[in-house]
Formats: sequence, structure tokens, C-alpha cells
Amino acid sequence: MNTVKPEITYRALVARKKGADGTSLSVENLITKDLPDHDVLVRVHYSSLNYKDALSASGNPGVTKNYPHTPGVDAAGVVEHSRDDRFKKGDEVIVTSYDLGQNTPGGFGEYIAFPGDWIVPLPKGLTLKESMIAGTAGFTAAYGVKKIVDQGISPADGNVLVTGATGGVGSIAVALLSDLGYNVIAVTGKKDEHAFLKELGAVEVVDRENITKVKDHPLLGSRWIAAIDTVGGSMLDSVLPQTAHNGVVACCGNVLGGKLETSIYPFILRGVGLMGVDSGICLMEDRIEIWDKLAGLWKLKDSKKLHREVNLDELPEEIEKILNGNQVGRVLVTLLD
Ligand SMILES: NC(=O)c1ccc[n+]([C@@H]2O[C@H](COP(=O)([O-])OP(=O)(O)OC[C@H]3O[C@@H](n4cnc5c(N)ncnc54)[C@H](OP(=O)(O)O)[C@@H]3O)[C@@H](O)[C@H]2O)c1
Repeated sequence: MNTVKPEITYRALVARKKGADGTSLSVENLITKDLPDHDVLVRVHYSSLNYKDALSASGNPGVTKNYPHTPGVDAAGVVEHSRDDRFKKGDEVIVTSYDLGQNTPGGFGEYIAFPGDWIVPLPKGLTLKESMIAGTAGFTAAYGVKKIVDQGISPADGNVLVTGATGGVGSIAVALLSDLGYNVIAVTGKKDEHAFLKELGAVEVVDRENITKVKDHPLLGSRWIAAIDTVGGSMLDSVLPQTAHNGVVACCGNVLGGKLETSIYPFILRGVGLMGVDSGICLMEDRIEIWDKLAGLWKLKDSKKLHREVNLDELPEEIEKILNGNQVGRVLVTLLD
């Protein structure tokens, strides 16, 4: 085993502190010897943009403590060097979540170094590029779908709601659920993206107010048997009382904040289950199972519709868009094609 890490100059998007709260973003030349001294060094081919990356890039201390910093919670690439016996130069790997892109330099750089325990070997049936079209957003959507499927809810049981439907997690949830035969109701605030959501397979597209105007009622008419909620806050407050008997709500996002105001009634009168989705620290066995599904039976039928491709220089503009809630679908970041 070669223990000497190669010294390579590479490009990375770097966020630097500017003023009290802000950051500036620029693409800089860095050197691999300055990466953390972890066992595996990977040449990143693709990354993707997630909401958390935008928080890290904009100086959110809940995500990233120290700057200058390279965000990017997602990376797919090829092992360049490994002191971990399980991996060797040339292996194709996926790394998402753990601390990548938070306080460990992330996938918006051409090289990353991290512990071998974070690696998911690229499953057969998926290319590096396809893995990052999904990325953490796709993984999270699939994990949410698994929570619903594991409760025995099948397409015949009723509609499935997806909130924040044009976002990264939401758009993949819509596409995946509809590929699996579910009747998807997509919730969006973007009036001009209804056609996009129909194209992904939603049978019905509704405005956010269609769901939230009914808030403050403990229990309402049953409109769906399951939901994937990427928004949280008052959206989740409104989703729970409209979920049918023995339904499941998989909650993963906090776009509208972390506070949940609900009553006990959806739970004790309808047996509704509220399931959390934690892509960051879920068990490796679950992680591998979900990536295997995304490479196999749950492989997205038409991922072209779901993503746009950008390079490192184009990322700051995309980060601004996701922060403002204006992103549609997935943003794939190509570092080496
Ligand atoms: N738990 C986990 O493991 C996990 C993993 C990944 C992401 N997340 C979380 O999931 C959420 C979504 O992530 P993402 O990467 O998909 O982000 P995203 O691409 O920015 O999507 C968020 C979507 O939320 C909707 N939205 C924005 N502002 C809103 C508002 N004021 N009211 C209601 N809806 C609003 C928008 O969809 P419409 O315009 O279509 O309504 C937007 O596209 C984030 O909170 C993220 O941190 C959690």
C-alpha cells in the first residue's frame, strides 16, 4: 500500500467570510497536501447542488463553522490514493453526507479526502454521472419513498402528496413515485412549473395555499394516504390533518423552519405515522440498500428531464437561486466529464 499522498494542484469553489455574516465565492487553485489527512483521496468527477450546500456557501454556522471552506455534500469520482485496504486506486465511489462539505472540504473541489467508512462503492447499473443527478436529494427522496413502501402502502391505497415539488428532493420524489405507479399530487409555489411537474408524472399539481389554507384544524377530510414533505413548518402542520387512516408522512425538510404545530388527533384518531428521513447519519446498510434501489428497480426512468449541468464557475449563480427558492429540479456539477 502506498502511504504517500500525491501532491496535486486542483480547482475548487471557495467560500470566504466577508463582513459579519456574508461570504464571497470564487474558484481558486488549491493543493491536495492541504486537504485533511484522511485515508482516501478521490478525484471528483461530479457533484450536485443541495440546499445545504447553499447554506454552507453563504456562511450558515449551523452547517459550516470554519472558513475559507469548499462546500459540496455530494461527490462521485475515482479513488486516486487509499490507505484503507478496502479501496484502491481506480475504484469508482459515491460519497454523500456525513461531514463532507460541512466542515470537511466538499465536492465542489476536484479532489476530496475523507475516511473510508463514508464510501458507497458505485453500484452496478449506475454511472458516476447518474449517481450525482440523484445525489443527496435523490437519496433522500428514495429514503422517503422507502419509509412509505415499508409501511405497506401501495399505489392502490390512494394518492401520495409531495411538497416543495419543484425542488431537488421534491422533483425526484415526484418522478420516482410516479415511476413506481403512485398517483402523485405535487405541491408547488411556482405557477409556471405545473407543466414540468406533470411531465415528471404528477397526476395533479396544486398551489401551496391549496394545502396550507386549512391550517389550524385538528383533523380534516382525508386527501392522501402518504406524503413526502420537504418543506416543514406550516406546510407539515397542514399535511398531517389531511392524511388518511393509517397513512404515513415522511418528513425531511425545514425550508419553512423547524417548528411543528400540530395536535394529537391525526395520530390517535387516524393512526397516522410521522416518519423522519435522516440522509446525513443513516446506517451504511440502509445507505447501500437505497443506492442499490436507485441503480436497479428504482432507477429514474428519464433523468434528463430532472437536471441541468453546470461547471464550478457557474455555481455561485445557482447557489443564489436555490437560496431564494427559485431552483427547479436538480443541478449537476461537472468537474471532470
Ligand atoms: N433530512 C434529510 O436527510 C435531508 C436531505 C436533503 C435535503 N433536506 C432538506 O430538504 C429540504 C429541500 O431540499 P432541496 O435540496 O430539495 O431544496 P430545494 O431544491 O431548494 O427545494 C426546496 C423547495 O421548497 C419549496 N419552497 C421554497 N420556499 C418555500 C416557501 N416559502 N413555502 C413553501 N415551499 C417553499 C420550493 O418548491 P416549490 O416552489 O415547488 O413549492 C423549493 O423548490 C431542505 O430543507 C433541505 O435542507 C433534508
